[in-house]
Parts: sequence; structure tokens; C-alpha cells
Amino acid sequence: MEKVFRNYEVLDVNAAVREHYRKMRQNQTVDYVQKMHKKYLTFDKPMLLWEAMSHLNSLIDVSDPDLDLPNVQHLIQSAEAIRADGRPDWMQLVGLIHDLGKVMFLWGADEDGTSQAEQWGMVGDVFVVGCALPDSCVYPEFNALNPDMQNDRYNTSIGIYEQGCGMDNLLLAWGHDEYLFQVLSNHQNNTLPEEAMAMIRYHSFYPWHTGGSYSELLNDKDQKYLEWIRDFNRYDLYTKSNKTYDLEEIKDYYLPIAEKYLGSGPIFW
Ligand SMILES: [Fe+2]
Ligand SMILES: [Fe+2]
Repeated sequence: MEKVFRNYEVLDVNAAVREHYRKMRQNQTVDYVQKMHKKYLTFDKPMLLWEAMSHLNSLIDVSDPDLDLPNVQHLIQSAEAIRADGRPDWMQLVGLIHDLGKVMFLWGADEDGTSQAEQWGMVGDVFVVGCALPDSCVYPEFNALNPDMQNDRYNTSIGIYEQGCGMDNLLLAWGHDEYLFQVLSNHQNNTLPEEAMAMIRYHSFYPWHTGGSYSELLNDKDQKYLEWIRDFNRYDLYTKSNKTYDLEEIKDYYLPIAEKYLGSGPIFW
């Protein structure tokens, strides 16, 4: 039987996934996201890329109904699929590092949802805060639990934004995508192309890239983003399998690509 991905109906995986999304919807507000930016975007913790990769050996993403392997395996599987398709080296690197923002759990906290035990501020499909939650969110029945939906500034389709302001001006739910994007934006030796940075920043933004929501807030540039992210998303989604790799064994191939685009020194987290 062909494997069905992102099926949230199967029972027990899914009590945990459902609970994750309930907490995420309940806690991710404008106020919370602003606090997390302040708290986590300090860029004062140096760590080599490969060391960060190895830490994802001990993290399993609770929001992913398709995968119960350490996250680093998902990263390698994505990269290897992009490589097998003969796609550019920078895109292979994006496959390898796109979820690396999850290292946040090393300095995370249960109350922020950024720990091994509480991941609602770190993983899962993201949405825009500061405007109405669309029905295209997974488990839309939880939208009403978000306290911002009681606030008239935040509960309209435009909310705090301007029509057509573009995705780069939206505040998204806090998580590993935005974290890695900001860390790499701050990284002096970063020469990754614009496409790569967009794939990193928006790959979990399902209500937009798959749900088609937020059209009033988008601009022309976002159409280009959509093509890039859909291209990348196939590798994020359909490469999940039980085949496992050893991080050391793929290092000879990927480390030179990482150094080409990110230098060989530490990244400041
Ligand atoms: Fe991700
Ligand atoms: Fe991923």
C-alpha cells in the first residue's frame, strides 16, 4: 500500500500530535512571539554546524506524524534525496540543515515550548500572529483557543498588517524555521542564495504554501517564494523512511559544501 503522509487521522500517533497543536494554538500569540524573538535572537552562543547537527541525534519531533527517528536522520534523508535528483549543492545543504533551528532545545525551556518535553514553540506548522487564524490550519477547531482571537486588533483577516505588505513583513508563530533564518541572516560568512534562505524560513508555513491562505497580505515576490518552497517541500515530506545514516559517514561529502556557503568557523546561535 502506498504510504500516506501527513495523515492526522490515525489514532494514537495522533493524540500526541493533536495535543501539541492544541498547546501551540493556545500559546502562540503576538505577545509570546515578540518575547521569544527577544529571548532567543541573541546570537551569543558559538557552535560549529556539525556539532549542532549531532545534537539533533537526540531530538524526535513530536509534531511529525510520519517520523519517529531522531531529527538528524530526516535531515540526511532530505539532503540525500535532493542530491540524488542532481539539484544544486546549496539546495542539498538546505536539505541537510533546514531543521537545524531545533537545536533551540539545548537552551530552551518547558514554559516557552522550546524543550524536548514541550515543543509547541519549536516545531509544527506555523501561522501568522496578529491577524485571524484561517481554517486551513491543521486542527482548525483549536483556532478559537488562541487568546488573540478575542482581541479586535488581531482577529481580522488583515489584523495589524497592511494589505499586500508581503510575507517578509509578517510575524509568524515562533519556531525552528524563523530561528535558523535569523541565525544565518546574522552569520557573517553566509553566502546562501535568496532561494535557500526562503526555504529555511517558510518551509513550515503550511496554511500559506499548501492551504492557500493569507492572499490579502501577500505581494508579487511571494509568488516566487511559493514556487521555491513547493519545490523544496517535496523533499521535506516525501523522503521520510526508516533508512538510517551515520552522520560521520556523510561528512566528507557535505562538510565542504557547508564550508563553501557558511565558512568553517562557528555559527552564533
Ligand atoms: Fe522543519
Ligand atoms: Fe523537515
